[in-house]
Amino acid sequence: MIEVKGLTKRYGELLAVDNISFSIEKGEIFGFLGPNGAGKTTTIKILTGEIEPTDGEVKVFGFNPVSDRKNLHKVIGVVPEIQNLYERMTAKENLTFFANLYDINHKRVDELLEQFDLREWANEKVKNFSLGMKQRLLLTRGLLPKPDILFLDEPTKGLDPYTARYIRGIIKEVNKNGATIFLTTHYMEEADELSDRVVIIDKGKIIVCDNPENLKRSQDKGIIKITLKDPIEERQFSLSDKQTGNRIKELLQSGRLLSMETEKATLEEVFINLTGKKLT
Ligand SMILES: Nc1ncnc2c1ncn2[C@@H]1O[C@H](COP(=O)(O)OP(=O)(O)OP(=O)(O)O)[C@@H](O)[C@H]1O
Ligand SMILES: [Mg+2]
Repeated sequence: MIEVKGLTKRYGELLAVDNISFSIEKGEIFGFLGPNGAGKTTTIKILTGEIEPTDGEVKVFGFNPVSDRKNLHKVIGVVPEIQNLYERMTAKENLTFFANLYDINHKRVDELLEQFDLREWANEKVKNFSLGMKQRLLLTRGLLPKPDILFLDEPTKGLDPYTARYIRGIIKEVNKNGATIFLTTHYMEEADELSDRVVIIDKGKIIVCDNPENLKRSQDKGIIKITLKDPIEERQFSLSDKQTGNRIKELLQSGRLLSMETEKATLEEVFINLTGKKLT
């Protein structure tokens, strides 16, 4: 669905995207992660034909995003990082305006307003919307073309947990119905929950591309955490220590064992370890 080879983008002296390559299969949720300024939004803008690359090859659904932009936007949906709704228009006017731009049947507008519980807000001006409602509307607009590929640039940024979960639910549903998803997010739990594969990009370069399970396992701490009762007490044992088996056996026999779990690395720890970001 997406094929990227040697993609590079310069802004003057600054190398925002530095010779990256990856491909995305049909039906995947592809998490594109990285610290602030890593080059995520720049990559999305290139893949959706908003800006031109400096170098490299890009094919999205077989289209060149620059020369085939109009056709590309019939099969992709975009939820940009910065909300670009028309604040003085109503929700429905925003959707209809967009539908006209891409020859989309107006019935689809009503269908989506209904589906995303926006019916009662349809004739309200967007400037009166909360952040969460605006984001729901932005996602609705992205879904107007019934996209084969949906690009989401931090779709849950700043949202309350309920709205964020609602949006994650829609992303899963759209994916289940066949759409491929390109997702950026700073919420590592969200990336872990949704993504089939993730890329971590830093200073314009891809530093890793794998599925979240493999990444977490690669940074596994190899520790068993045991909780004892009477009195409550926590102990940790290393999996590589030959004595661990005997010690656990003793604790089992003592009848004090309450719970036992292996301590796994989280995707957040993987991210921090690999990007080594320090706040300056
Ligand atoms: N129009 C532009 N002109 C000059 N520099 C730009 C422009 N757009 C982005 N940059 C720079 O390119 C780099 C990559 O920016 P980009 O917006 O792609 O990062 P990002 O990974 O999306 O970050 P964030 O997580 O903060 O959204 C940054 O250093 C940014 O300042
Ligand atoms: Mg960004």
